[in-house]
Formats: sequence, structure tokens, C-alpha cells
Amino acid sequence: MKVTMVGTGYVGLVSGVCFADFGHEVVCVDKDPAKIDTLNAGGVPIYEPGLEDLIAKNVKAGRLSFTTDLKTAMQGTDAVFIAVGTPSRRGDGYADLSYVYAAAEEIAGLIPTGDNSFTVVVNKSTVPVGTGDEVERIMAEHVSRAAFEVVSNPEFLREGAAIDDFKRPDRVVVGTKDSRAEAVMRELYRPLYLNETPIVFTERRTSELIKYAANAFLATKITFINEMADLCEAVGANVQEVARGIGLDKRIGNKFLHAGPGYGGSCFPKDTLALARTAEEANVSLSIVSSVIDANEARKRRMANKIVAALGGDVHGLRICILGLAFKPNTDDMRDAPSLTIIPRLVDKGAEIVAYDPEAMEEAKKHLPDIAYTDCPYAAIDGADAVVIVTEWDEFRAFDMRRVKELLNAPNVIDLRNIYRGKQMRALGFSYTNIGYPA
Ligand code: UGA
Repeated sequence: MKVTMVGTGYVGLVSGVCFADFGHEVVCVDKDPAKIDTLNAGGVPIYEPGLEDLIAKNVKAGRLSFTTDLKTAMQGTDAVFIAVGTPSRRGDGYADLSYVYAAAEEIAGLIPTGDNSFTVVVNKSTVPVGTGDEVERIMAEHVSRAAFEVVSNPEFLREGAAIDDFKRPDRVVVGTKDSRAEAVMRELYRPLYLNETPIVFTERRTSELIKYAANAFLATKITFINEMADLCEAVGANVQEVARGIGLDKRIGNKFLHAGPGYGGSCFPKDTLALARTAEEANVSLSIVSSVIDANEARKRRMANKIVAALGGDVHGLRICILGLAFKPNTDDMRDAPSLTIIPRLVDKGAEIVAYDPEAMEEAKKHLPDIAYTDCPYAAIDGADAVVIVTEWDEFRAFDMRRVKELLNAPNVIDLRNIYRGKQMRALGFSYTNIGYPA
């Protein structure tokens, strides 16, 4: 099959490269010539483990190429994927669909209209219910209805594990009731089909909603365990044991029950907001989703207070070492990262911040230009009055704790990701605070 991927952001690039690795011929298109130049020179504009090698392999095999020219990219194509951004619109939280509609207009002008020509236009961007209908309307203004079909095919890729999530998904969701489009989509995902991955074919609107419902449910699960963590701290229970105790029930499941500083990233905050807005428009109350949004925002703010309390109620003049800035490990993504809420609050309270992150420091500097950064975690720890773990990068788990203690000015560790064991930390002489344990 020949695939055109419009948009080489996170989703477009990973999906395009993985389709090429399945054996399809893929052309990735982006309006940004700098991005395309980088990709053509063998570089990767984002950080995702394994992606660079997979790009090199498929470019070498002649199945993957990059261009700014949509017209050439669409020649002879079976499926054009729209994988452009849908950021939250400033002010109202609605998903901004201008990039999706602009892509649809451009694609419409290039769809072949010969006798038997048929192109599937696949929406991979996360879009509110009904967007596919609008894309179809835009296309139909330019092209005869028989020449195309608009399909929804949401992605469920986690940053940092995206290649594995694409190649070994729990399921693939495809929103179309058109048999020709269904045949194309089946062929595209045939390698997964052979692995017995369930492919859920459904109505387009239902498929669009599945994406939001999945993210909102996962955000709810995290927020639920975060609330249990607060309760555990207050009543003297242990949240990790609670998570294990409930997670072994197959109806609940053990995933996404790690208590922490609140969820961040480019998806959960944006998608929960957009879902709430969609519901508002439809005059439906989604009280759970709205509460999750509020609780998560409040939690991120409260984390700064938790740090201050752990340090005796006043951080004025204290040097605090922040380890981990990205919203989660294995990414350089800073979007809605808890560190962006926590650090300015500590600065406001008079703390001096020294930060380290293995991948996200360049991104972080754009948001937090006035704090100090170091290239090595031990340098950040040296002379600090406290270490705060904000993101659970593996390299922090394997620290030489005796060295950490020697370097610190005062042996305070505040672990917002529960990566250390309280008993061991206390035995080593640390004053150790984590999430969801009695003090
Ligand atoms: C999320 C979903 O997991 C993907 O399935 C989805 O495709 C993607 O959004 C998307 O819509 O594009 P992602 O945002 O990359 O993926 O990251 P997650 O691994 O889901 O983590 C999101 C946030 O939740 C992070 O801040 C993480 O630290 C937090 N989290 C996650 C917890 O606090 N506890 C957990 O148990 C799990």
C-alpha cells in the first residue's frame, strides 16, 4: 500500500515510520522545511527511543521518504493520513481544528478523480466528535463523493513507548462503515491482524469518542489513586499497597495506578478539557471528567506546598535540587509538566532552584529561563538543602545514595514518584517524604 502522512509531529512521524516498517511505501509531508531537512539529513526532531534507527532502516530500504510537497507525496496513494496538531484553543479549551481543516482543504484539491480512483482520508489527529463529518463536507466541495472516504483512526501511543504501542497495540480502532475504506484499512494493519490484535470497526463518530473516553478514563484512574494517596497520608495507610490490592482485581487492572504529582503531557490535560467542552455544547454534564480536571490542577499546585511543608514550612534561601523536568521519563516533552507548576511556586517562596533532566533541559529553558541547570545530577545535588524527584527517570533509581547524602547540605529527599523505599532511605539517615505513605 502507499501511504501519505500529513504532519511529521509526534503522531505522524511515529505512525509513518511504523507503517513503513510494516512494509508499506510511506511519504511523510510537513509544511516546515526545517523539519523535513532535518529528517532528510538523518536527524529526528523529537526524542523517542528507537525512532532514529527505525527511520534510517526504512529510508535505506526505500520505503520511507520526507517532503514538503504534498502533491508529489499524494501521487498514487491509497490512504492519506491527517496527523496534524489539535492544540487547546487559548481561553476556552476547545480543540483548535484549524490545522485539520486546512490539511483537508489541501488534500481535497489533490485527490485523483478518475473513473475508479478511490482514496481513503484517515483522521489520526485527536479530534472532537463530528470533525470527520466536517472534513467530509470540506472534501465534498472539491471532489466527487465516490472518489474518497473519510475514516477515523485514533492513536493510542504513549510518548517514550510509542513504537511498541504502534506495533503491539491492545487494539486498533477504525471508524468507517464503508466497505472499500475498510478493505484499505485492513490491508494497512494486516501485520497486526496476523498477530490477532483486535481491530474494532465502528461508526466514525463513535471512533472519535473512543479516543477521548480512553484518555479521560485513564486520567480518572490516575486522579483516583492520587486522591487515595492523600487519604493514605492522613490515615496512616500505604498507597502502593492499596494500588496493588485493588489492581489485582481484573475488573480494575493494575495499570495507571501510580500515585504521583498529577498527570501532565500533551494529551490528558488537553483531551479531558476538550471532552468537557464537547459535553457542554451537547448539554450533557460530565461531572466526573470536570472533577478530574480540577483535582489534577489543584494537585500540581499542592505539590509545592508539600515540598515546603517537608522542609519545615519555609524554603526562603534554601537551595532545592529538582530532578526530572519532563512530564514523564523517556521524553523531552515539557507540555503541562508538573515541574512547570511546582518550580515557579518554590521560586516565589524564595527558594533557589538547580534542576537536572536527562533530555528535557533545552525545552525546560524555554519555560523556566531563570533557574539554574546542570549537566550532571550529582552536580545539581552538590550543596543543595533538598532533592525533589519530580520525574521518575531510571537513572535516578540507581543513585549512589551514600554519595547523595555526602553531597547534600541537608539530607532531605522529597520523592514525588515513590521511586525509593522509605525504610532504606531513613536507615541511611535521610529525612524522606514521598506520596501516599504516612509520614
Ligand atoms: C497518553 C495515553 O497513555 C496514550 O494511550 C495516548 O495515545 C496519548 O496519551 C495520546 O492521547 O496521544 P502520554 O501522554 O504519552 O500517553 O503519557 P502517559 O504514559 O499516559 O502518561 C501521562 C501522564 O500521566 C504523565 O504525566 C504520567 O506521569 C502520568 N501517570 C501515568 C501517572 O501519574 N500515574 C500513572 O500510573 C500513569
